[in-house]
Formats: sequence, C-alpha cells, structure tokens
Amino acid sequence: MTSPESVSFGYEDVTPEEKTARVGAVFSSVAKKYDVMNDAMSVGMHRLWKDRFVARVKPREGEQILDMAGGTGDIAFRMAREGASITVSDINQDMLDVGIERAMERGIDGLVWSRQNAEELSFGDRFFDAYTIAFGIRNVTRIDAALAEAHRVLKFGGRFFCLEFSTTQWPGFAEVYDAYSHKLVPKIGQAIAGDAESYRYLIESIRRFPKMDEFEGMIKAAGFRHTKVEPILGGLVAIHSGWKV
Ligand SMILES: C[S@@+](CC[C@H](N)C(=O)[O-])C[C@H]1O[C@@H](n2cnc3c(N)ncnc32)[C@H](O)[C@@H]1O
Repeated sequence: MTSPESVSFGYEDVTPEEKTARVGAVFSSVAKKYDVMNDAMSVGMHRLWKDRFVARVKPREGEQILDMAGGTGDIAFRMAREGASITVSDINQDMLDVGIERAMERGIDGLVWSRQNAEELSFGDRFFDAYTIAFGIRNVTRIDAALAEAHRVLKFGGRFFCLEFSTTQWPGFAEVYDAYSHKLVPKIGQAIAGDAESYRYLIESIRRFPKMDEFEGMIKAAGFRHTKVEPILGGLVAIHSGWKV
C-alpha cells in the first residue's frame, strides 16, 4: 500500500516508499567508489570533519556505540581506535560489504555489522551509550522516526551526535559552493564513478535538508535535551548533539 504523504528525493517530491527504494539504488550504485569519491568531492576535507566529529563524541573503552548509516565504516573505524564497542548499522548491504572488506584490509576486528533501517531498529531499549550518524540522516525517509528510535535505544545519560551537510551562513561562500556542487560534483561523479545522477541526488538532498536551527528543533522534539549545534565552515557542515536525560 502506498502512503499519500510525500517526501523529497533531491528536488523531486516522491512517496516515502519510492524515496527509500531510490536512495537504496543510489548507494548500491556508488558503494564501490564511495570512499574515493568522498575524497575527490571534498578535497579530503571529509576526513577532518569526521576526526572532529569523533573528538566530540569522545568514545571510551567499554562503551556501546551505535554508528547508524555507518556505510563503509569511516566513523566506526575512528571510534573503535578509542576502545569502544561499535555496532555499524546501515540499511544498505552493499555499503556494509565494502565496510567489512575495508575493516579486514586494515586488520580492524571486533566491530558488529548489522543491517538495519534507522526508522525501525531491532535493538532493545536503552542499550547504547552513544548514537552517531554521519552524512546519513538526510537520506532517511522518515527523519522523525529515526530520531525517535535513536532516543529509544540510548541509555539515560546517553548522547546523540549527527554530522551532516547544512547551509553555510558565510556571505559569498554559499554561492561559490552552490555553483561548485551543482555544476561540478555530477561531472566528478560521472568521471570517477560513471554515475552523474547519484551525485546529483546527493547534492540536491543537501539543499532540501532542514536548516541547522530547524533540525535542532527536530532533535528536541524527539526528546533530546541540552542540544547543541556546531557549525563548520559557517554551517556548510554541522555537528548536532543532544542528551537523553
Ligand atoms: C553518505 S553515506 C554515509 C556513510 C558514512 N556514515 C560516512 O560518513 O562515510 C549515507 C548512508 O546512509 C545510509 N542510509 C540511508 N537511509 C538509511 C536508513 N533508513 N537506515 C539506515 N541507513 C540508511 C545509506 O545506505 C548510506 O550508506
């Protein structure tokens, strides 16, 4: 049965079912080239943003951390280094398979890889000390449902951290970035991954994602307290956080 509500897929409005299916197709298509494309598109900067993100999470030995929409493992690998027990979850098995292969190549073991839809997790209540999601939430069809699930699986005192593209507030920079992302990124996607369309979606989905304060409001509405936003490059990228108290 289809639902009458509509959600954004890039600049298109589609049914929730169609969004989930098309996002799945995007990540299955890009999985094998995902890591090299991240470096090309961000000129390596995504590595610094991820380092900063994990520094904010402060994973500790003995903690149980869920890295949701963990894809090919970039965030999980960084957190595992600090001695935390990490579960990497993603809805897309092709992305997880690339992550599992990378972990083997790097000799990183002990991670739990679990295919999950962020909107409907199979984990019990109050299991995790921290929940992380990096460049994942804008691809989720029902963001409210994913935030509610994040809140449910966290212990009291648990923390939520989200790294996501947002909207830069630096004058002039927004226009330059807009031109770069809309004109060049699909071309880079075509040249490296043979897939301009998937990268067009990834750029368009950034434009449709709620602004920093609006997204903070959604985190609050899910029940998180002491929420915070840390803009990077004027808000081109942002780290949102909150606590379950
Ligand atoms: C841009 S990648 C980010 C991967 C990784 N976190 C990183 O920072 O490199 C987005 C990921 O979100 C996943 N995703 C999309 N919708 C999801 C959902 N409903 N539940 C879980 N993962 C989802 C995709 O499969 C994809 O692997």
